[in-house]
Amino acid sequence: MEKIVFSVSANKKCAKEVANLLGCEEGKIQINHFQDGEVMVKTKSDVKDKIVIVIQSTSSPAHEKLFELLLLLDSIKRGGAYKIYLYIPYFGYSRQERVSFKNEPISCEVVARILDTAKVDKIISFDIHHKDIKDFFKTEFINKPTTSLFKNYYESILNDEINDKNNIVIVSPDHGSNERAHLLGDALKNAPVIILDKYRPAPNKAEHLKSDADVKDKTCIIVDDIIDTGGTLISASKLLKDKGAKKVLICASHAVLSKNSKKLLKSKQIADIVVTNSIEKRKIKGINYLSISPLIVDDFKD
Ligand code: R5P
Repeated sequence: MEKIVFSVSANKKCAKEVANLLGCEEGKIQINHFQDGEVMVKTKSDVKDKIVIVIQSTSSPAHEKLFELLLLLDSIKRGGAYKIYLYIPYFGYSRQERVSFKNEPISCEVVARILDTAKVDKIISFDIHHKDIKDFFKTEFINKPTTSLFKNYYESILNDEINDKNNIVIVSPDHGSNERAHLLGDALKNAPVIILDKYRPAPNKAEHLKSDADVKDKTCIIVDDIIDTGGTLISASKLLKDKGAKKVLICASHAVLSKNSKKLLKSKQIADIVVTNSIEKRKIKGINYLSISPLIVDDFKD
């Protein structure tokens, strides 16, 4: 069955790469902005009876990305696609997945319900903030780990440390990344994992409680799903260095990198930063980017 790959605006490079790797057509779209601010998105390519792969993170500005995605999906559906597989590499609103304070909405569930209306065949995301988010959907929802990308990366730069388990520690900067950190630990020859206790003294500020984990003279890899302000990783790496860690490397699946994140790059405590390209922005010098395209292509290998 013929395949065709689309993105609207969020993951254009990734869509091109996936289409090249699959040896299939890259879908063409038309976007019109009207005087009153409304938008119209439609496919200019024929999708009839094709397997359609749509790749679009709902990254900032999330509302625009989400709405243009919904319009493209409607256009594709009306075009008679055989199957539609929707990849949302970075799922915006995923951190609003529970009520923390009275009268708060569960925004993530609202977004899930909206996406259900698109009636695609499957929605796939990567390292989503909380694994239970899948339960918000009626549509089949798959959360794919990006562990293999980071495994290959660290094997290429830290081979000696990985071969000696006494030298390396995988660090979860809070309880939310525990499972992710264990996946990476398992992939790196069962490297030990420690979990730090994070708290937020104010919104967008992160601090850590003292830890009695032994990291003296060890290479620490901190694993997180999102780098937003960078506060979590700065605080965690400072704690590890204060405890005598030899070096601290950080990896995160989604480089939101919003306000204040420049501090992260200036931090002297951090030896290396690696992220995926789930959010396509201008690349920042000093950050290493890993492509998620092979993870998408893997799903279509016969
Ligand atoms: C929080 O629960 C997430 O897993 C990340 O740790 C958080 O979003 C990172 O945000 P920031 O970079 O602003 O500390």
